[in-house]
Amino acid sequence: MFPTISLVLVLTCTVIFNVFPTKADDLKTYIVHLSLPEGQDFPRAHEIEEWYNSFLSKIPSRPNEKPKMVYAYRHVITGFAAKLSVDQAEALENLSGVVSVRPEGVYQLQTTRSSYFLGLRQDSGLWKDSNKGKGVIIGIMDTGVTPGHPSFNDNGVPAPPSTWKGKCEVAGCNNKLIGLRSFVHGISPMDEDGHGTHTSSTAAGNSVDNANVFGMANGTASGMAPLAHLAMYKVCTDDCLLSDILAGMDAAIKDGVNVMSLSLGGDQLPFHEDSMAIGAFNAMQKGIFVSFAAGNEGPLDSSLSNEAPWMLTVGASTIDRRITTSVLVRNWKFD
Ligand SMILES: *[C@@H]1O[C@H](CO)[C@@H](O)[C@H](O)[C@H]1NC(C)=O
Ligand SMILES: *[C@@H]1O[C@H](CO)[C@@H](O)[C@H](O)[C@H]1NC(C)=O
Repeated sequence: MFPTISLVLVLTCTVIFNVFPTKADDLKTYIVHLSLPEGQDFPRAHEIEEWYNSFLSKIPSRPNEKPKMVYAYRHVITGFAAKLSVDQAEALENLSGVVSVRPEGVYQLQTTRSSYFLGLRQDSGLWKDSNKGKGVIIGIMDTGVTPGHPSFNDNGVPAPPSTWKGKCEVAGCNNKLIGLRSFVHGISPMDEDGHGTHTSSTAAGNSVDNANVFGMANGTASGMAPLAHLAMYKVCTDDCLLSDILAGMDAAIKDGVNVMSLSLGGDQLPFHEDSMAIGAFNAMQKGIFVSFAAGNEGPLDSSLSNEAPWMLTVGASTIDRRITTSVLVRNWKFD
């Protein structure tokens, strides 16, 4: 029998983290972390927003500078995202119970890699002996997905577990793609960039035979967990806002994902200032396995982002395959 070649692209991603607000006097989105008063239980679901708003009501408000709640987080962090002026942010930071108030960063996307290179084979070893992710729900924060893409066929994938609480905002979901929502205000969850479709098919894409590009690199394309369920939380378009990323993570925790995968990150920050690391910590405490891309940026071979020890930090290298072709330029002019 002819051995099957698996062309699996594994995620990776990078990021440029811009901590500086863009325009000086507009309201900006800040991420506000709170701590509970000593001995107080976490408020019940319907009281959380009220508790968060009680902080906003204590800071100065001018007619065109009203502080505005953007997201009230319930699971990923104790805190919220709000549009604030610089003065309001400072006043908020002074309130008792407020741990930190920081302008949100902007994150950007990048990619690549292969599983054959990792030594995984369809017909032997670790991969063959595993259940290929059956029953596992992988939640991905990215640019959305393209429902109906061949990698999201649900051959051999059972119905999602009854504990699943997520949903699809558009048609085209099946037993493979079980969740698809957008957290980018006013933008559909469809993938217009390609990055989300790439990272999610890398993680959870089902097998697709005879995958090739103009006949090149022909083989069986497969994600690492071809029988797992996929839930996409769209948190990025060309770039990703921290408030949206946290909103996606918040929903993923509530919906009941088992694994969370984020192919985005930023410069290293102390863990207590890194809202994504804090969110990942809360997810980990709830039994969710959190995987992040290490990033594609230097300056050193050892430079990475998303390095908190409670999450898996996935590094990438170049793949062990080269596709070459000849190009004939008729007039030998290159302009
Ligand atoms: C914050 O508190 C400090 C010290 O109590 C005070 O000097 C400062 O004016 C306060 N800032 C705001 C914006 O309320
Ligand atoms: C890809 O490989 C399969 C199996 O070997 C073969 O049947 C098919 O014709 C190939 N497709 C292309 C475009 O080479």
